Amino acid sequence: MAATRGPRYPARAGLVRAGGAALCGLGSATVTVPDATPAVSPDATPGAARDARPAATAAATRAATPVSLAGRRPEVPVARLLAELVPPRHFAAESFDTYLPDPQFASQGSALARLRAVAAAIREPARGSWLTGRRRAPAPAVYLDGGFGVGKTHLLASLAHAVGTDRTAYGTFVEFTNLVGALGFAPTVEALAGNALVAIDEFELDDPGDTVLMSRLLRELADRGVALAATSNTLPESLGEGRFAAEDFLREIQALAARFEVLRVDGEDYRHRATVTEGAPLPDAAVRAAVRARPGATLDDFRTLLGHLAQVHPSRYGALLDGVSAVGLTAVGPVEHESEALRLVVLVDRLYDRDVPVLLGGSGARGLFSPAMLRGGYRKKYFRALSRLGALADDGGELTASG
Ligand SMILES: Nc1ncnc2c1ncn2[C@@H]1O[C@H](COP(=O)(O)OP(=O)(O)O)[C@@H](O)[C@H]1O
Ligand SMILES: [Mg+2]
Repeated sequence: MAATRGPRYPARAGLVRAGGAALCGLGSATVTVPDATPAVSPDATPGAARDARPAATAAATRAATPVSLAGRRPEVPVARLLAELVPPRHFAAESFDTYLPDPQFASQGSALARLRAVAAAIREPARGSWLTGRRRAPAPAVYLDGGFGVGKTHLLASLAHAVGTDRTAYGTFVEFTNLVGALGFAPTVEALAGNALVAIDEFELDDPGDTVLMSRLLRELADRGVALAATSNTLPESLGEGRFAAEDFLREIQALAARFEVLRVDGEDYRHRATVTEGAPLPDAAVRAAVRARPGATLDDFRTLLGHLAQVHPSRYGALLDGVSAVGLTAVGPVEHESEALRLVVLVDRLYDRDVPVLLGGSGARGLFSPAMLRGGYRKKYFRALSRLGALADDGGELTASG
């Protein structure tokens, strides 16, 4: 499955727009990764980072396997954080044309048609005119609301592609909050305001501080004429959560609510992964063997990796995976602390964005998060992580099956 998924996303070379680069004091748009870490399997490295790495270094370290994630400490220049605001690799080839509305759910066709129009409006904004007194229309803002697996991310990525990835900043909610953490609020506004569209996948409402922060960020961007698009963060419907989140979203972003148009996307889970998969874990020895057989695969003891994640800023977890073709974890077991669990969620998101298969030893995903965590305020994140980890572990299992 992994082999057929996700064509490599073309790196947005020279991708930092003038505003961001100037503001961050970065003279050049070239993305470099000053990374003491060995580069594993350069062929598998996505995007800009690999292209910027000196070929000699990559060649010299190519043979070194298995590498551990815990041995890597990537430094990520701000330019790269901005450059990585593109749709995930998994959706690189998707467009409005590849979204096939289900005739049984009229809202899918309507959402598609509306988004095509929104893309056109962003590409060619209607001009205001002082002669006729016509004011320039505010930039569009849309919120895609729907259950799990109905194609919201597919549509959001398609919108970004239709507008142009060089004029769009596309990221998950967490990536944007990390960016504010790394740059500060005002510089983030400046860095993002040069875009025609800011697209936020999986708008999270479970942390009041972050929600307020994002709401403020979006307001400033909207005031500067940037179009906005966001998607809801919903659980697999079988887990019994409300399927639609628009009311919560509009309440939380009160100052902006009137500007957002809610596009509802009904439907069934396209992946038919309505339940969280909990595939059987692999024996640790099988994880080690599979990693050894696969160039670019990493091997870590689960608890050691959790400890390491505390030492690396979450905005760097993507860079931690540079060149990694698969992640092998031995002695996987329950995560004890919420802070560890939340870091793990971010790592799983970055693994999922990059389609990196995962091999889980120990007890695997079973009991990874405690019942208290799965009932608590961050449960949506945990269920999402379990669902994604299940999919990636399925891919990892296929690696062992295929030798
Ligand atoms: N109508 C559709 N036509 C084609 N592919 C779809 C459609 N809906 C979903 N998919 C595919 O199914 C998978 C899950 O969709 P996704 O956009 O991730 O769902 P959501 O973000 O709503 O959870 C993706 O690979 C996506 O490309
Ligand atoms: Mg999605």
